[in-house]
Formats: sequence, C-alpha cells, structure tokens
Amino acid sequence: MGQAIPEVNETRYLLAIESSCDETAAAVIRGDFHVLSNVIASQIAVHAAFGGVVPELASRHHIVNVLPVVRESLVQAALVDPSFEGLASLGGVAVTAGPGLVGSLMIGLQAAKALAWGLNLPLIGVNHLEAHLEAAFARLTGSDVGEAPPVPHLALLVSGGHSMILDVRARGQYEILGSTRDDAAGEAFDKVAKMLDLGYPGGPIISRLAVAGDPTAVRFPRAMRRHGELDMSFSGLKTAVRLYLKDHPKLSQQHKADVCASVQEAIVDSLVTKTLDAMKLRARKALVLGGGVAANPRLRERLAAACQERGLSLFVPEMALCTDNAAMVAVAGARRLAEGRIDGMALDARARWRPEQMFTPLSLGS
Ligand code: KG4
Ligand code: ZN
Repeated sequence: MGQAIPEVNETRYLLAIESSCDETAAAVIRGDFHVLSNVIASQIAVHAAFGGVVPELASRHHIVNVLPVVRESLVQAALVDPSFEGLASLGGVAVTAGPGLVGSLMIGLQAAKALAWGLNLPLIGVNHLEAHLEAAFARLTGSDVGEAPPVPHLALLVSGGHSMILDVRARGQYEILGSTRDDAAGEAFDKVAKMLDLGYPGGPIISRLAVAGDPTAVRFPRAMRRHGELDMSFSGLKTAVRLYLKDHPKLSQQHKADVCASVQEAIVDSLVTKTLDAMKLRARKALVLGGGVAANPRLRERLAAACQERGLSLFVPEMALCTDNAAMVAVAGARRLAEGRIDGMALDARARWRPEQMFTPLSLGS
C-alpha cells in the first residue's frame, strides 16, 4: 500500500472538490490515499419535493455551500490555523470536471480554480466516473485499513447515470466490456421508487424497504441474459413494474416491501451474473465495486458470497465513499498528479464526457 506520489505525499496533501450533481463535497487526502477529511453538504431535502434533482436549484445551492464545505474540509484536516500556514501543506487542487450537470460542475470548478490560482497549486481535472472507479483505493482514517485493490482487476461501476463493467489493466487504463443500453441501475431504482411514491433518491429507500420483503414474490424480468452478453438493460424492468402496479393499484405495506425486494433482486441478479461472466471471460481474480449503487447492501452481500465461492477477491469502498463524495475525486486526482497530468486555468466543465474519452487530457481543445 502507499503508492509513491512525488507532488503529494505524507506531508503534502491534496484538496478535492466535487459538485457534479446535488452534493457539494470537499476532501483532503494524503499521498498514500488516507482520507483526512471528507465533507458533504447534501441537497436531498432541497430536491425531494420535486422527486428528482432540479439543475438550477442544484447550482444555486452549490454556490452557497461550496466555500463553507471547502473550509470545513480544511479545518477537519487541521490545515486552517490563524496564520493559514497549514495551507502550505497542500500540493494540489483536484476537481470533478465532468460528466454531470454543467451549472453544478461550474461552481466546483471555479472554486477549485480560484484556490489553485490563489495558492499557486497545480489544478487537476477529474472524471467523475474515474473517481468512482478509484474510490476503493481511498483509506478512511480510523477504519479497518484493508489491502488496496491489485491491478489488473475487473470493475463494476453502478451509479445514477452509468452502469458499466470494465477491465482495468492498470490504474487509469480501462476497457469497457459492457454498459447499459438504456437506464443505469441507480436510475432504475429511482424510477421504480417514483412509481411506488416512495420519494427521492429511490435506491436507499427501496433497499431499506426490501429488508422486510420477499425477493421471490414477483418475478420481474432480467434482460439480456444470453451467456457472455455483458451489456445491460433496465428499461424492460421499469415497464414490468409499471404494468404490475396497474394490475395492483392498492398495495399493502408488506406487498410494497415485496415489490421492492423483487425489483432489487432483479437488478442485483443482472449485475452479479454479468460481472461474474466478465470475470471469467477475462480470467480476473479481483473485482472492484464503485458508484452509488455499490452502497446497496444486497448487491454487496451477493457479490461477496459469489466471490468467496469462486476464490475471487472483492474490493468495495466504504459506504460513505460509494455515493458522491470528494475523497474519491482526491484519490483519482492524486494519481493523475503523480502522472503529471495537470490542467491549466483553461480547464472547462464537461456535461458529457464519454467514458471512452475518460483518460484524454482535459484542457480546452482536447
Ligand atoms: O454515484 P451516485 O451518488 O451519483 C451518480 O454519480 O449518479 O449514485 C446515485 C445513485 C442513485 O440512483 C441512488 O438511488 C443510488 O445511487 N443508490 C442506491 C443506494 N444508495 C444510492 N441504489 C440502491 N441501493 C442503495 N442503497
Ligand atoms: Zn457519482
């Protein structure tokens, strides 16, 4: 453990900012990926009334939250003292540059640019998906520090906007083996929760209700089951739930829990089957999980059991590092910095950033 990082090390830290969607987050890590602070201002209460993220409201709340969150992350990392001398311990500023809501991204980006410029530090743009893929390398101080994932490994990235299976040959070198043809896994959870009138965000609510439900109560479809087919699809599941609810307009609490457990099982089943197929196809022995849906207890449990049975090792980020956070951005940023991938002040926000282009330099014109 503890990759050598020239510019950021045990005594030089990296500050990171994340604002791609509805969480304003800032973190400070050491060069060995130990997280010194990981602060998140959630906007769930702001958007819950609308059943989903309202981009304009998200931008406005990022503006209000970004500096207090950054300050808090510096205070928690013991870098803010009356003379601000602690800031001299910083070796760089990383920031999520995309993909995400462009107005939201802009706020974090401008804050990061101002700090990098003011403190004369390198600025590092990070792809949000790559940050999720690297979350398992972060080490929360005080937690049971396990081993860092080895490379090569296979990765399952499941968030609100993306679902992908990737072959990670080395850190930062990815081959996409499969991805969703329509909805992402998290999106499927969220949309089903909306149909059931459960609130937002749907994933955690469904997984909570599912605990009391029977996962075999309703057999919802598992799409694209052909062996070796690594692409996924969740839109058929959504339609099946809609039709089911049309036939069962009034659900008891137990019936609702059964539907939640059954939907969750269908999503988890697809993810687990395809991931195991990919592991076999590429003869990989280690699996890394990332993205908000990685916080789903049933997915974690099913993958852990399957990996144990097959003698594979599984690396799952701490719960707090699965959903959007800045510690994962810091980890990916520290690695990019070590590779000399520094961005200039021309760094721009990218609402869309195709996964295939994840690893190109970020500066304007690239
Ligand atoms: O990674 P993330 O925080 O944001 C994106 O990059 O999209 O992922 C958010 C997604 C949401 O769709 C949310 O419902 C889902 O992750 N999620 C979960 C759970 N916690 C968050 N899905 C299933 N079970 C959970 N416990
Ligand atoms: Zn995310």
